[in-house]
Amino acid sequence: MKQAEKKIIEANLDKEYAGITGVPNFTKAALKLAYGADSAPLSEDRIAVTQTISGTGALRIGGAFLERHYPGAKAIYIPTPSWANHNAVFKDSGLKVEKYRYYNKDTIGLDFDGMVADIKAMPKGSIILLHACAHNPTGVDPTEDQWVKIADAVKAGDHFPFFDMAYQGFASGDTNKDAFALRHFIKEGLYPVLCQSFAKNMVSIAPLKVLLLLTSISGSLRRACWCLLRRLRIGG
Ligand SMILES: Cc1ncc(COP(=O)(O)O)c(C=O)c1O
Repeated sequence: MKQAEKKIIEANLDKEYAGITGVPNFTKAALKLAYGADSAPLSEDRIAVTQTISGTGALRIGGAFLERHYPGAKAIYIPTPSWANHNAVFKDSGLKVEKYRYYNKDTIGLDFDGMVADIKAMPKGSIILLHACAHNPTGVDPTEDQWVKIADAVKAGDHFPFFDMAYQGFASGDTNKDAFALRHFIKEGLYPVLCQSFAKNMVSIAPLKVLLLLTSISGSLRRACWCLLRRLRIGG
């Protein structure tokens, strides 16, 4: 971190005002880190992106975006337990917060069967929040095989995946491995929202904790989506 910080200081970057949806070089690099350089939605320019104030800001804007524009039920399913602030942030966005099973206290592990059963029991087209890696507060993540089955259940229910990735690189030490779930869902033809936080993995070189909300959608809708995100950023 200290070396990275030194490099940035030596590069003598400008301190220009960032546009409404952020600094393009930064958002481009963040997209690559999350989706992977060979990602189809990235090379096909199908991702609408905006910088936000930290991961919390991304979640708040993501919630507001869905409350305003998602055509299905205005409810989001979060795991039990989840990061303490999810409930408040999504409620404040105007979404109803529902729960799905996640942690099994007896095994100190994932309640995989309970989770999949709850996903299957959700009304069709439900919004589901998934911790991409290093689940907070339990630290318990699905295995890659389990993610494949979770993606199948999400797809079968026509649900809308909303990823929160606040710890990319912290679960396995490998940023690509930690992005497995997000990238697998995309390979499966799903169009997730992603909130990406750099507050922990780059804390000392991202002093403003500038974070992103990324919405991955089908081709020509990208610009429309970006315009709507932009409007939300300026309070329109
Ligand atoms: C799962 C999860 N999402 C989002 C956040 C919020 O990130 P930030 O500190 O960038 O607002 C946290 C912070 O602890 C978190 O654990």
